[in-house]
Amino acid sequence: MTDTPYVVDQMISAKSIAARIEALAREIRAEFKDTDQLVVVGLLRGSFVFIADLVRELGEMSVEVDFLEASSYGMGMESSREVRILKDLRSGIEGRDVLVVEDIVDTGHTLHHVTGLLKSRLPHKLKTIALLDKPTRREVDFKADWTGFEIPDEFVVGYGIDYAQRNRNLPFIGKVRFIQEG
Ligand code: IMP
Ligand code: MG
Repeated sequence: MTDTPYVVDQMISAKSIAARIEALAREIRAEFKDTDQLVVVGLLRGSFVFIADLVRELGEMSVEVDFLEASSYGMGMESSREVRILKDLRSGIEGRDVLVVEDIVDTGHTLHHVTGLLKSRLPHKLKTIALLDKPTRREVDFKADWTGFEIPDEFVVGYGIDYAQRNRNLPFIGKVRFIQEG
């Protein structure tokens, strides 16, 4: 299945993403204006481009960057409903302000599980931001505090997001379209 040829049709341009992140960063700076040092937690691997651009828009804010990896799709397009932590945070977050950064909220299982886990560590404040949201795919009730773009039920790649580990390096978000050969 992952060998089926496909093309990527652009859905959200690099320019639109940059503009949206600027606006989101303004809201985040306001939300955390009294925070001593914000812990920005990127979910590996899909959020690595988004978190890099987002933290650079936070300006003079003092941030610590950490990463957490939860089990994911593997090589296909099917979501795994069982979420496991593959790599945990380096920092303790008790009493601290934390922003979890995710690429896509799809069924909702990943962020539902991850925020549950992090809340059990008693942070002072825990907020979430997702670049993309596919609300029609939801299986558990979850809404990120900030969302970049709502998108329809399409499989997307680029800007950090992969299909079978490919296309993470595209500067835009595009949808995967399978093509017939011959
Ligand atoms: P959820 O647990 O179903 O909400 O899925 C979240 C994870 O599934 C995201 O962090 C993505 O890594 C992955 N995912 C969801 N939709 C897509 C997609 O369209 N392309 C690539 N990965 C996706
Ligand atoms: Mg992911």
